[in-house]
Amino acid sequence: MLVLHGPNLNLLGLREPEIYGRDTLADVDAALEQLADELGIEVACRQSNHEGELIDWLHEARERFDGVVINPAGFTHTSVALRDAIVASEKPCIEVHLSNVHKREVFRHTSLTAAVCVGTVMGFGLQSYLLGLRAIASRLLPATLAAPATARPATAAAIPVLPTPPARASRRTRGSRQPKRPRRT
Ligand code: DQA
Repeated sequence: MLVLHGPNLNLLGLREPEIYGRDTLADVDAALEQLADELGIEVACRQSNHEGELIDWLHEARERFDGVVINPAGFTHTSVALRDAIVASEKPCIEVHLSNVHKREVFRHTSLTAAVCVGTVMGFGLQSYLLGLRAIASRLLPATLAAPATARPATAAAIPVLPTPPARASRRTRGSRQPKRPRRT
């Protein structure tokens, strides 16, 4: 899975902590990597202040990743190009925000990217990213597990498969243990 952090998020923990909290970007990435381990998936976390670089990474996702968690930060409200790149990735994307943008300035209420994402998680600080990663994993993993074991990537093997409950006795088996009813005449 690819996790993209947009502009100014390199200053997380220092920048407007009353809005974005005290967790640093390194804290967010460490929490994502720990969760990815628990889920048995791989995650690559990248940050850029440059729109073009984020777009290049979304193009890379076409070939190299199964899904994307993205906090487009300020580009959320301005970038048609980033929106187009999300569509071009042809991968499911989840948009995340640390803050609840709807409680903030009106210009933040519009997201150009949300409509091309599977869903959005916002307002939970670092947890927004973790919920986003869980959402994209749960969307992708059932399909992975449904594939024959030989076709599964190594990462999916780490997901425990629930044991199959013992089969209930079939009607015929049960019937054979019961005394035969007398035939009606
Ligand atoms: C943000 C919200 C954006 O409006 C803002 O420009 C950001 C961060 C968030 O995570 O809450 O840089 O995406």
